[in-house]
Amino acid sequence: MPTRPLSDYLAEIDGADRTGLEALRVQWLGRHGSLTAALRELGTLGPKERRTAGQELNALKQAVEERLLARQRQLQAQALSSRLDNERVDLSLPGEPVALGHPHPLAVTQERLVSTFVAMGFAMAVGPEVEDDWHNFEALNFPPDHPARDMQDSFALADGGWLLRTHTSPVQIRAMQQAAPGPLRIIAPGRVYRRDDDATHASTFHQIEALVIDRGVSMAHLKATLKTFARALFGADVPLRFRPSYFPFTEPSAELDIGCLFCQQAGCAICKLSGWLEVLGSGMVHPKVLQAGGYDPERMTGFAFGLGIERIAMLYYQIPDIRLMLQGDLRFLSQF
Ligand code: PHE
Repeated sequence: MPTRPLSDYLAEIDGADRTGLEALRVQWLGRHGSLTAALRELGTLGPKERRTAGQELNALKQAVEERLLARQRQLQAQALSSRLDNERVDLSLPGEPVALGHPHPLAVTQERLVSTFVAMGFAMAVGPEVEDDWHNFEALNFPPDHPARDMQDSFALADGGWLLRTHTSPVQIRAMQQAAPGPLRIIAPGRVYRRDDDATHASTFHQIEALVIDRGVSMAHLKATLKTFARALFGADVPLRFRPSYFPFTEPSAELDIGCLFCQQAGCAICKLSGWLEVLGSGMVHPKVLQAGGYDPERMTGFAFGLGIERIAMLYYQIPDIRLMLQGDLRFLSQF
């Protein structure tokens, strides 16, 4: 017969942890448990004794069972609340940093150029990157065997007369055909292709073309426009130089140079000791080109210019090799 008082059992239960509690239950109430054995022993007693001992024993057993259950619930509640404590989110902690991307230096430069021209009243125009020979050369006054074609060595597509455009100038023709005989003032940014591959010439690069056509447009308008643009981009006191040049589609033609940004014209490796940097090609639209676009060159005149966006970005950011612009190398890109 177990003779331990109830309080002993209760004290043991209250001091047990989860595994200890299960061990106590087995030890007392399991198949070979001490209380189980005591209950079984009741059968060996006489009827009178059995009754009193039975009542006591059953009361003890019930009290122990209740306390086991209560303790189990208490332990469960404690475990839950400490789990909630651990899981609590502190909203005042700083967040995990997220690595943000940023615009490519070329995109930044293009955006800067476009917004400068848009502020000057130019509208946007686009044209296809796959062109026909007529738009890319012929209509721009490059006859089939003209040597100037060699300077824009191109990627011909196998299929009858198509090529990857070598400059954005064919957009001039397309814009003229849409606007003629009315006036026109557009810029056309876009991708162009040439069979080139060295530190300053890539096979894929970007240009912005500008074209203005109206009555009485003169070289003075071209100069004033380029001056305004160059000052907006490179600063009010940047030295400018117009240098005579040649393009089949402009007459006369001129290239615009700016004073070298790197050596203040003292002469350095970037300007090849000349003190000047070449920025763009320009000129008055050739009468034959006006005609190809649907204009009467006796009534309307115009100017055009085209610049390489990579070239401007390279000047801005002092990038030594144009090919870095196309490679997507994070060691390069994360510097901007
Ligand atoms: N299309 C010429 C080039 O790619 C640039 C240019 C555009 C020159 C417009 C004059 C006028 O070199």
